[in-house]
Amino acid sequence: MEELRQKYLEAIAGAADEAALEAVRVQALGKKGEISLKMRELGRMSPEERKVAGPALNALKNEINSAIAARKAALEDAALEERLRGEWLDVTLPGRPRPRGSVHPVSQVTEEITAIFADLGFKVAEGPQIETDWYNFDALNIPPHHPARQEFDTFYMHRAPGDDRPPHVLRTHTSPVQIRAMEKEGAPIRVIAPGRVYRSDYDQTHTPMFHQVEGLAIDRDISMANLKWVLEEFFAAFFGIDGIKTRFRASHFPFTEPSAEVDIQCSWVNGQLRIGEGDGWMEVLGSGMVHPKVLEAAGVDPSQWQGFAFGMGIDRLAMLKYGIPDLRAFFDSDLRWLRHYGFAALDVPTLHGGVSD
Ligand code: PHE
Repeated sequence: MEELRQKYLEAIAGAADEAALEAVRVQALGKKGEISLKMRELGRMSPEERKVAGPALNALKNEINSAIAARKAALEDAALEERLRGEWLDVTLPGRPRPRGSVHPVSQVTEEITAIFADLGFKVAEGPQIETDWYNFDALNIPPHHPARQEFDTFYMHRAPGDDRPPHVLRTHTSPVQIRAMEKEGAPIRVIAPGRVYRSDYDQTHTPMFHQVEGLAIDRDISMANLKWVLEEFFAAFFGIDGIKTRFRASHFPFTEPSAEVDIQCSWVNGQLRIGEGDGWMEVLGSGMVHPKVLEAAGVDPSQWQGFAFGMGIDRLAMLKYGIPDLRAFFDSDLRWLRHYGFAALDVPTLHGGVSD
């Protein structure tokens, strides 16, 4: 009896986990367990023997059962300890620094422009950056060999030798979206089309890729007066300056007639540009009344419909509004520059929020 006791108490103490412990229990107290078999032998003993052996076996069974329960509790405690040690976390440690992104000024200004024109009833239209020269030029009343094609410093896409279809181009302006939008929707229509454009040009104020936003409003009786009002509303909201002055200078674009370039009032004080004051002027966009040939090319009847279009440089507007001196830095992907000039991701421009304040 004492031997059995020693054997099982040792096995219980040595069980490394609950499975091993269960195996010991079955070996001792299971149906065919060693102690269970011994208890079955009680029947074959004399009453005297049984009087001694019965209580002793029962006591042994109880002792082993409670040793198993105690060992089980200890194993569970150890497992919990182990987990607590493994999952330990010092919540008072400072957070790990992560690279922080920000919204690029061009994206921010595009959002601002979109919010302002949305309020004026314009929706956003889109077109591809790789265009056919029909959309980029012909449909805009710039036929082949027209001098304006040279002025644009166009990037032409490669064509396989022997393929003499007219080349695709990287669009040189957002004006082809006028055609696409009118083809799709007809008239009346009011859209803006912000996006990337490309010209082979590079210096402090020119990069080969830059951003424009096109505006187009066609209806039965839209005039230059509407154009002027819309642009003045836009500049007042964009720069946050009421009654900002604009100057319309007669100009020429093949796709508008008459055409005007538009300047906004500004001054230079100690080398700093100030918008909306003084007697200087800063050119910000090209515009005019959409040429009848352009309406026709887009399937809109020029005897029924007329309207204005404009195109302005988004990067230029961002430089003016946020005092960014060199255009090329916009596209250098310099994180320090972005941290300085970028915007918080949740800083979403809205008109009631003052667009940018
Ligand atoms: N597409 C012209 C440019 O890129 C701008 C413009 C757009 C002028 C619409 C008039 C009307 O210079």
